[in-house]
Amino acid sequence: MRLLVTGSLGQLGRALKARLEQGRCPDEWLDVEADWADLAEIDISSDASVAAWFESHERYDVVINCAAMTNVDGCEADFGRAFDANALGPMNLARACAQTDTTLVHVSTDYVFSGTQEGERTEADAPCPISAYGRSKLAGEGLALSGNPRTHVVRTAWLYGEGKNFVATMLRLASTHSEVTVVDDQLGNPTSADDLAGEILRIALTDAYGVWHCTNEGICSWADLAEEVFALAGVACTVKRCTSEQYKAANPQAADRPRFSALANARLAATIGNTMRPWKDALRDYIGH
Ligand SMILES: NC(=O)c1ccc[n+]([C@@H]2O[C@H](COP(=O)([O-])OP(=O)(O)OC[C@H]3O[C@@H](n4cnc5c(N)ncnc54)[C@H](OP(=O)(O)O)[C@@H]3O)[C@@H](O)[C@H]2O)c1
Repeated sequence: MRLLVTGSLGQLGRALKARLEQGRCPDEWLDVEADWADLAEIDISSDASVAAWFESHERYDVVINCAAMTNVDGCEADFGRAFDANALGPMNLARACAQTDTTLVHVSTDYVFSGTQEGERTEADAPCPISAYGRSKLAGEGLALSGNPRTHVVRTAWLYGEGKNFVATMLRLASTHSEVTVVDDQLGNPTSADDLAGEILRIALTDAYGVWHCTNEGICSWADLAEEVFALAGVACTVKRCTSEQYKAANPQAADRPRFSALANARLAATIGNTMRPWKDALRDYIGH
C-alpha cells in the first residue's frame, strides 16, 4: 500500500501519522509506505506543483488530502486564496489521482450547510454554505468528485488535535482569564482528529465512493464545549454565554457561522459501521493526554 498525505503538518495530517506509526489502524495499513507532504513540498493549489510531485514519485494507492485554508474569518477576507486552496487544490489532486486509478480521500466540513434547520444533517441533505470558507469547501467537494471517480469526500466538524483549535484556545485563555465569553447558539459536533483519522483509514479501504459524514457523536454549543473543557482540565474559568449577534457586534469582521451544523454519520452506520465515540469521551482522552 502506497499513501500520500497532503497538508501533513496540520491537525489531521499529524493524527494520521501518529496512528500509522503506532499501528493503531486496520491491518491493511500496517505495511504502508507513506509520503508526508505539507505546503513546502506540495502546494495543492498549483497544478504544476501537484503534477511535478506525482511525476517524480511512484504510483500511490491512496491520497488523503488534509491540506486546506481552515481560517474561517481569513477565508471571508480573501476568497481568492480560499478558493485556490480549498477548491482548486482538491481539483488538482483529483485530476492527478484519476490518471493513476488512485483513491482520493478529500476532507470537507459541516460549514457547507446553511445551519438554518434544526437537528442533524445527513449526506442526503442539500448543502447551502453561508460563508466564504463553506463556499470554497463545497466547490472543492464537487471538483474532487467530478475530477476522479475514486473520490471519498469526508465531512467533519469542530476538529481538535495537535495544532490550533478551539479547545487549545480555551485552555490557553483559561491560564490568563477567570471568565471567557463564548457563543451558545451555534450547535455542532466536537470531533477528535485522532478518532477521525481512524475512521478515514477505514473509509479509504472501501470502494463506496462519494460523500461521508464523520464526527464524534453528540451535539453541543461552543459554550457547552468550553465548559466541558474547563471541567475536564480542572481549571476555574467561567463561561459567559452570548448569542451569535452579540459576538458579531463585538467582532464585525467575523464570518457568519451556521446555527445548526451537526452531522449524522448516516452512511457509516448503514455500511461499514459507525465507530465514532461520544464527543465527551474523546475530549476526556485529549485533555488527559
Ligand atoms: N479545523 C476544523 O475545525 C475543521 C472542521 C471541519 C472540517 N475541517 C477540515 O478538515 C481538514 C483538516 O483540517 P485541519 O484542522 O487538520 O487543518 P489545519 O490544521 O489548518 O492544517 C491544514 C494544513 O494544510 C496546509 N496548507 C494550507 N494551504 C495549503 C496548500 N495550498 N497546499 C498544501 N498545504 C496547504 C497548512 O499549512 P499552513 O499552516 O502553513 O497554512 C496546514 O499545514 C481540512 O480539509 C478542513 O477544511 C476542519
